[in-house]
Amino acid sequence: MTQKRVVLVTGGMGGLGETICTKMADAGYKVAATYSPGNKTHDDWVAQMKKRGYDVLAVPCDVADYDSCQVCVAKIQADVGPVEILVNNAGITRDMTFKKMDKVNWDAVLRTNLDSVFNMTKPVCDGMVDRGWGRIINVSSVNGSKGAFGQTNYSAAKAGMHGFTKALALEVAKKGVTVNTISPGYIATKMVTAIPQEILNSKILPQIPVGRLGKPEEVAGLIIYLASEEAAFVTGANIAINGGQHMQ
Ligand code: CAA
Repeated sequence: MTQKRVVLVTGGMGGLGETICTKMADAGYKVAATYSPGNKTHDDWVAQMKKRGYDVLAVPCDVADYDSCQVCVAKIQADVGPVEILVNNAGITRDMTFKKMDKVNWDAVLRTNLDSVFNMTKPVCDGMVDRGWGRIINVSSVNGSKGAFGQTNYSAAKAGMHGFTKALALEVAKKGVTVNTISPGYIATKMVTAIPQEILNSKILPQIPVGRLGKPEEVAGLIIYLASEEAAFVTGANIAINGGQHMQ
C-alpha cells in the first residue's frame, strides 16, 4: 500500500481549520494540525475527532515563532513522515479603525498571519523540492484583495501572503511544487460571527451577491482540488471564493 500523503494544516482546530482537517482526511490524506500552545482544549478536540473517526496528529505550535515551527515540523516528520502538503491557514483578527490601531495589534496580526507563512514554509519547502512534489496553499482573504474597514493590519498581512505565493511559485515551479493562495470571503465561522450583528447585516451581507455567508466545506473543497494531482498546472494563482463579493 502506498503511504498516505501528509498534510499539515496550521490553525487546524479553528472554524475553517477543523473542516479542512476532516475533509482532507476524508480525501485520504494523513492530517497533522497545529494548535496554539495556549489552547487548553486540544486533548478534548483530539478525543472528539477520534469519536468522529478522525485520527489527527495535533501538535502545539506558535506559528508566529520561527523556532516553534521548526520543532513542530520535525515532530510531524518523525511521527508520520514528511509534510507534502502545507495549508497555511492560521490567522487572527484584531479589527479596529486605523485611528485606534496601535503597534501591538499591528504586530500581532502581521506576525501570526504573515510571518507564519515564512516560518512554516521554510522547514517544509526544501524537502518538497528534493522529492519533486509538493503543495503549498496559503489561506488569504477577500480583504487582502479589496481592503476592509477596520482591517489595515489584516488586509496588509493577507495581501502580503499573495506576494509571497507568486515569488515562491516562480522559484519552485520546475520542481513539481505548486504554491497558491485562496481568498475566501465571509465564511460562517467564529471569526465572522464575532463581527457585531448590526455591521454584518447592514454592511457586509448586502455586499455578497450569493446572499449568504460561505460554508467551511466549500473552502475545504477548493483546498482538496489544489492539493490534487490534477491541479499540477495551477501555480501562483489567487483563487477567490467569496460569493461574488469581489470580482477581479
Ligand atoms: N463600511 C463602512 N462603514 C463602516 C463599516 C464598514 N464595513 N464598519 C463600520 N462602519 C462605520 C460605522 O457605521 C460607524 O459609522 P458612523 O460613525 O457614521 O455611525 C463608524 O464606521 C464607526 O463604527 P463603529 O462604531 O463600529 O466603530 P468601532 O470602533 O466600535 O468598530 C470596527 C469599528 C471594529 C471596524 C467594527 O465596525 C467592526 O468590527 N467591523 C467589521 C470589520 C470586519 O469586517 N472584519 C472582518 C472580520 S471576518 C474576517 O476577517 C474573515 C475574512 O477574511 C473575510
